[in-house]
Amino acid sequence: MASSQGPSLRELAVQALSSVEDGYDLLAPKFDHTAFRTPDDVLDATIDALRPLGPFGRGLDVCCGTGAGMRVLASVCQGSIIGVDFSTGMLQQARRAHPQADAQWVRADVRALPFGGAFDLVVSFGAFGHFLPAERPALFAEVYRALRPGGLFAFPLGTPSPMTSRWYWAMLGFDVAMRVRNAVWRPRFVMYYRTWPLDAVCNDLSASGFAVTSVPLTALGHRKNGSARYRLVLARRVGEC
Ligand SMILES: C[S@@+](CC[C@H](N)C(=O)[O-])C[C@H]1O[C@@H](n2cnc3c(N)ncnc32)[C@H](O)[C@@H]1O
Repeated sequence: MASSQGPSLRELAVQALSSVEDGYDLLAPKFDHTAFRTPDDVLDATIDALRPLGPFGRGLDVCCGTGAGMRVLASVCQGSIIGVDFSTGMLQQARRAHPQADAQWVRADVRALPFGGAFDLVVSFGAFGHFLPAERPALFAEVYRALRPGGLFAFPLGTPSPMTSRWYWAMLGFDVAMRVRNAVWRPRFVMYYRTWPLDAVCNDLSASGFAVTSVPLTALGHRKNGSARYRLVLARRVGEC
């Protein structure tokens, strides 16, 4: 987008008129040159927050895309690391970008994860806008099932922008445009910025059986009211370790 190697406006429009899976297949070759790839500073802040809680054994990156989050897993996990995504195109790019033997890639819809009790750490970056609030309990149940007892589900969430900021109105405008698009066009492309507020997410995680906390990612800056721009949600699968 900002980069000359990123997709053109026409390519973005064609992607936005597709399903989520087809859209990412189309975008995949240029995805790493868009603002949609999770930036390195978010990954670094997550590594810094997770390191004192580790080391972890096996790790899973949910909705891995081209593999941005695998850098986090590689930094804090001592066992095998797996990225899961339903876009074949994104997984092809991920394989190219991460040729190391210890990274594995699985094509699956994360609403039906093909794993049970297998991971010590599950992470996810930049993908939850693709899931409606009503889908959260089922998604969290899948992650819970994929974790070992005592395992951790960790992901960063942005805290709300104040109404006085440009971001507030930009995100609101984007979400309204997507709702109009999805009311008049099929297949739907579910992607909303404002549907995963921290409190509701933590409540749904607790209802799914997780013990939930969050820590501020202070390296990513603060809002005018002093609160951190991002928090790392830490949801532990309780039970016997
Ligand atoms: C914005 S990208 C984020 C990619 C990567 N995590 C990152 O931070 O750069 C969202 C990813 O979620 C994947 N995705 C969305 N819904 C999915 C689902 N139901 N099952 C599996 N993958 C999904 C898309 O294919 C895409 O690769």
